[in-house]
Amino acid sequence: MIAAVLGLQFGDEGKGKITDFLSDKFNVVVRFNGGGNAGHTVVAQGKTYKFHLVPSGSLRSEVVILGNGMVIDPFALNQEIESLRASGCSSKILISKMAHVVTPMHKILDIKEESVRSKMNIGTTAQGIGPTYEDKYARTGIRMVDLLDYELLRDKIEIIYRMKENLLKDSEFSDVLKREEMTRSLHGEGLKLADFLKYTEIELYELYAAGKSILFEGAQGTMLDIDFGMYPFVTSSNALSGALMMGSGFTFRKVQRVIGVVKAYMSRVGSGPFPTELTGDDGKRLRDLGNEYGTTTGRPRRVGWLDLPMLRYTIRMNDVDVLALTRLDTLGLMPEIKVGLRYLKDGREISYVPRSYQELAGVKIDYISMKPWGRIDPDEVGNDYEALPKEARDYVALIERELKKTVGIISLGEKRENTILRGDLKISLEELQAKT
Ligand code: IMP
Repeated sequence: MIAAVLGLQFGDEGKGKITDFLSDKFNVVVRFNGGGNAGHTVVAQGKTYKFHLVPSGSLRSEVVILGNGMVIDPFALNQEIESLRASGCSSKILISKMAHVVTPMHKILDIKEESVRSKMNIGTTAQGIGPTYEDKYARTGIRMVDLLDYELLRDKIEIIYRMKENLLKDSEFSDVLKREEMTRSLHGEGLKLADFLKYTEIELYELYAAGKSILFEGAQGTMLDIDFGMYPFVTSSNALSGALMMGSGFTFRKVQRVIGVVKAYMSRVGSGPFPTELTGDDGKRLRDLGNEYGTTTGRPRRVGWLDLPMLRYTIRMNDVDVLALTRLDTLGLMPEIKVGLRYLKDGREISYVPRSYQELAGVKIDYISMKPWGRIDPDEVGNDYEALPKEARDYVALIERELKKTVGIISLGEKRENTILRGDLKISLEELQAKT
């Protein structure tokens, strides 16, 4: 089977756990967008793993691929590979020669650009993501393969410096000796990665042709997509399912299942519109119940009620087949639960998601209240959907009815084993597991 796992909200939906859960049924797991801005957490056999660059499937699948659409900090990647190997993981790692390199200079640029934006700042993760994609599209970017050629690397770093001198002139990189030092260390990191660097689109095609099952793991979420998200409060890459094609070189036509990951409530890090945001004491309560603090930055996440109109849109944009619902146990602990059913403008329902503060100004959300279900013990529920409290099942039923999609996976808590599979997805994954 060829499948994709994508976030349908603002990132942090719990894609890491879902990808890890599915990855023993897939031979190959592929990332195709973003970089160290992503923070995917996996809890398995009593240990917590945090992935930023290598796919979350690394613990269990045979091959993991970091596709050309990614932007990679080679220092961070080497550290991640080392800690992965130290924990006994032996999956084969392939890195696209054409993925772009995030240098320490790009991280400084990220912070400088935010300060120029001033009041309009995005609240980026400061991982150098935006500036690296800027260089890619300006055709001055450094590709992973360039790390192996010292002279070329030095020339490219000088070009980027000259292009962005205005922002960098007060930084340590205004000193040519510092730039040379950075070039040498980047070259060193590149040499450590040399054996992993491949034309991954060709390797991927060959794996496909050999009958391997492949899982694509999206980073961020649709509402952070550079084209379709809440621009400009978005990341600098496409986060939709279709982006896997340009970010890995594999055709979307062959993807048989798109699994959309939905957190039972909403969260968002950084600035920008958030229609169902919950502020004040209720917001704090939900944030603390869900421990909603960024994996990459530690920042408190903004939280809110589930936004069904937004999900109708993101389901369509990703051509989602089946939903994976996370954090149902967290939400049940709220004393009152609401769900955003419809967007109303001048008292009438609108069928689109307004994408700016101006357009959102007159929009009201029509909420429905749901009965809380209290504490769920994931170990007691096991993999039995019927063992969930009735109110929790009502919540799932509301989602299925309103979104016209089956919730095929329900994730409770952080542990891998606390995951319920349902419906068609359960059957096809069991068939797949029998083959792998
Ligand atoms: P950047 O990707 O670091 O440039 O950040 C741009 C926006 O996307 C900011 O609001 C970030 O908080 C958000 N963002 C980027 N990656 C993630 C993620 O993996 N999860 C949640 N938010 C993210």
